[in-house]
Amino acid sequence: MEPGEKPIGHLYRYLPVAQGKRDTDKKEFGPLKEKKMKKAFITGIDGQDGSYLAEFLLEKGYKVYGMIRRVAIEDPEHHLWRIRHILDKISLFPGSIESYPTIYKNIQKIKPDECYHLAAQSFVSYSFEDEFSTLNININGTLNVLSAIKEASPKCRFYFAASSEMFGKVRHTPQNELTPFYPRSPYGISKVAGFELTRNYREAYGLFAVSGILFNHESPRRGFEFVTRKITNAVAEIKLGQAEELRLGNLDAKRDWGFSGDYVKAMWLMLAQDKPEDYVIATAEAHSVREFVKIAFDYVGLNWKDYVVIDKTLYRPAEVSLLMGDYAKARKKLGWKPTVKFEELVRMMVEADLERLSR
Ligand code: GDD
Repeated sequence: MEPGEKPIGHLYRYLPVAQGKRDTDKKEFGPLKEKKMKKAFITGIDGQDGSYLAEFLLEKGYKVYGMIRRVAIEDPEHHLWRIRHILDKISLFPGSIESYPTIYKNIQKIKPDECYHLAAQSFVSYSFEDEFSTLNININGTLNVLSAIKEASPKCRFYFAASSEMFGKVRHTPQNELTPFYPRSPYGISKVAGFELTRNYREAYGLFAVSGILFNHESPRRGFEFVTRKITNAVAEIKLGQAEELRLGNLDAKRDWGFSGDYVKAMWLMLAQDKPEDYVIATAEAHSVREFVKIAFDYVGLNWKDYVVIDKTLYRPAEVSLLMGDYAKARKKLGWKPTVKFEELVRMMVEADLERLSR
């Protein structure tokens, strides 16, 4: 193992081990076995996608490294709940994507075979409140990771988490890899910049760098600020008598919602191809927020109209009214397709929230 690297991701072992190489590391793991294992570095490993991707890569026999913010180390209960069950199998490093030296140092130490850049300010609504930090984190963060790979580990394959939010105000439905971008939020603009940076590093410096244009993807691990989880959490709370209403903004917006667990497999497949190319990942179905709400309330035997309150303050200054993806290229070239349909996704999330809140 390289100096400064720790053998496993258990937080409580991190800090002492990080200060220097331990002789026991070689004995524990053996140099031969380690050479054979592919190494993956994930930014945003503690997020929804990061957690599913880490699980998936561990199953594939990868050695998984992740960078997390120092605040997460200091408060693991709140920040690391999604990866708590695999903490002893992964290696975590404190750092921020805003700090080039930290990223460079970690990539140089790890020399990963693959890098999945998932960390971002990913809440579209918040990007209207603080466009400066959204643009700064999302654009410079991506530039920092790309540049560090180019300088410290140019053979590393790079995945960028692009977004269907880049399509924004669409004139063609469904959207595919050739659909022009028309972002409608600072977040969408930052993702277009990240997408273009990724393409430029691929074309200018020959990096194996790809963007996955992922449509909305959800799960029981989704953050509570996103509309799906806000709904399923509130439905469970109302059903259990812990809340009385659910305040929402625009119910007419339509999204193509898939399951995060399916989408991380597509990320890995993109890096396993002979040629670096960008792919749309979606389900090719669009449903309104209203439909999501109705199915979620129906599932617990309640009428949504009795509980949902429309709150105009939750409307966005510029809305993306319809997103629906055409994933034909991914199906053909990656052999990828979604396994979880819309209604199943809603039910899975409601059930998980009911179970969690009933404990
Ligand atoms: N969050 C939220 N809260 N959204 C609401 C609410 C509410 O109370 N009421 C209505 N909505 C509508 C939003 O206006 C939007 O049209 C839709 O629900 C979905 O909002 P989000 O769940 O916040 O997701 P998003 O589509 O803006 O962005 C997500 O998907 C992108 C991929 O297209 C995020 O995960 C992005 O990071 C991701 O890139």
